[in-house]
Amino acid sequence: MALRNIMTKEEPVLHKVCRTVTEFNPRLHQLLDDMADTLLKANGVGLAAPQVGILKRAVIVIETNVEPDEDEYIIELINPEIIEQSGTQTGPEGCLSVPEEFGMVTRPMNVKVRAQDRYGEWFEVEGTGLTARCFAHEIDHLDGILFTSKCERMLSPEEMA
Ligand code: CO
Repeated sequence: MALRNIMTKEEPVLHKVCRTVTEFNPRLHQLLDDMADTLLKANGVGLAAPQVGILKRAVIVIETNVEPDEDEYIIELINPEIIEQSGTQTGPEGCLSVPEEFGMVTRPMNVKVRAQDRYGEWFEVEGTGLTARCFAHEIDHLDGILFTSKCERMLSPEEMA
């Protein structure tokens, strides 16, 4: 288990465009494993590589839409792209890099992503609801975009309670 430090919004690394991953090597696997440990420790639902200071196009998202007898699981997305989206949802959103702040953000209700796995194999995955929101949020991180720039309004402390 190796935890990495989560960068907060003041860090320049969170405002840059990340590089395409070209090597699917042990170094990438270590990054993904460390990101998973870091995400679980922080009780988040998604994490992008720039949030741990690495300018690579890699994110992880926890699939929380599972059957009651099924465990939640982590989806690893390398070089992800949204290839289809439909519907909209407007709801509260936060980010491990913007601690203690939440705001209302409109996202697609359904998202289909094309990405590579940790071995470089291309695949497609669909997400709905919170998972669609996470896919969109985490992929934005790869282009240096934080939810605060898409936020219609931030929530007051009373609303957050
Ligand atoms: Co975030």
